[in-house]
Amino acid sequence: MPDSSVTNAHLQLQGVGVNFGAVNVIAGLDLSVRKGEMVALLGPSGCGKTTTLRTIAGLHRSSCGRITVGGRDITQLPIHERDMGMVFQSYALFPHMDVARNVQFGLKMRKLPAREVQARAQRALEMVQLAHLAQRKPRELSGGQQQRVALARALVIEPAILLLDEPLSNLDAKLRDEMRVQIRALQQQSGITAVFVTHDQAEALSMCDRVVVMRSGRIEQLGTPTEVYERPATAFVAHFVGRTNKLKGSVDAGGTLTAAGQAMKAHGRLAPGAVDVLIRPHRIGIALPPAQAGAQERNRIAGAISSISFVGDLVQYGVRAGSAEFVVEEATQRHRAALPVGSHVVLHWSVQDTLVYPAGDA
Ligand SMILES: Nc1ncnc2c1ncn2[C@@H]1O[C@H](COP(=O)(O)OP(=O)(O)O)[C@@H](O)[C@H]1O
Ligand SMILES: [Mg+2]
Repeated sequence: MPDSSVTNAHLQLQGVGVNFGAVNVIAGLDLSVRKGEMVALLGPSGCGKTTTLRTIAGLHRSSCGRITVGGRDITQLPIHERDMGMVFQSYALFPHMDVARNVQFGLKMRKLPAREVQARAQRALEMVQLAHLAQRKPRELSGGQQQRVALARALVIEPAILLLDEPLSNLDAKLRDEMRVQIRALQQQSGITAVFVTHDQAEALSMCDRVVVMRSGRIEQLGTPTEVYERPATAFVAHFVGRTNKLKGSVDAGGTLTAAGQAMKAHGRLAPGAVDVLIRPHRIGIALPPAQAGAQERNRIAGAISSISFVGDLVQYGVRAGSAEFVVEEATQRHRAALPVGSHVVLHWSVQDTLVYPAGDA
């Protein structure tokens, strides 16, 4: 069961369900977000992230459950009374308005005095470092600049909650990295409570205080980035938040784990039965035999290198070991040439990094 209860929750979803016609898309979702926290909704396409976000915003009606902000029940409130700022993947700027007018729009809708509208829009544009482009039209801006305008437009109204739906997915890789840092900094500076939807695990882990991993309209795990990465609650989470080796194995009545044709140790108590053993490729050390050091703390298996590829900063080895084929990743080292194919090696990894789940979960 996901533990969604936190003290001092600001945004709270309790038992929220969403149906489209006869189809149940979100089922009994419980989620608490603290004031000033940024929480990621992470999961594969179609798992219900956007639907959850739009239900918080009031763009979809929930079929059951309750949504509160600061203790106030907003479940039945229309969109414009919910006090949410939204940022979309597609930016959704008004093409015929210049940058300043795009940012001023929400304030004008709230019928604020003209002077205040101008001053606040100016401050918001300074915050995203676009004050010098206030007279440009959206089509005269790069994708990253357009997304910063969209952010300014959402933040300028000082909403109770900021909702972001895959805001970086249309940007190229380098800009995406820069925008991650910028969005996180803006969110922390303004102290705004935010929900960030993404299918990109690196984005979720690097930007957010906590991560909700979703699967088929349910929460599979809710935790800090470290928790979901280091102690995934299920094999599905382990696969989704990072690369893994998967070994077929079994646990006997005495609790002994066997995988890839040999006995191994794992963290915690193991229930007997067929299991999948998951190990992250970069947590496996590769050594020339005989490998020594910390033998009790580590699992070790002898093998031979079957393939090598360079992936930027990493060397990725394929290693045939026991009855399994492993992928092992090592940071490229300037002082050491990669081991050649055919080398006899010993793979070793920590007992803590040996994740065991009932077979066939994901
Ligand atoms: N307006 C809609 N009408 C019917 N089904 C929808 C609608 N919007 C989304 N769905 C379905 O709901 C499920 C979840 O969609 P969505 O929330 O967009 O997922 P995600 O954002 O995680 O990719 C999908 O199966 C999708 O096809
Ligand atoms: Mg979506």
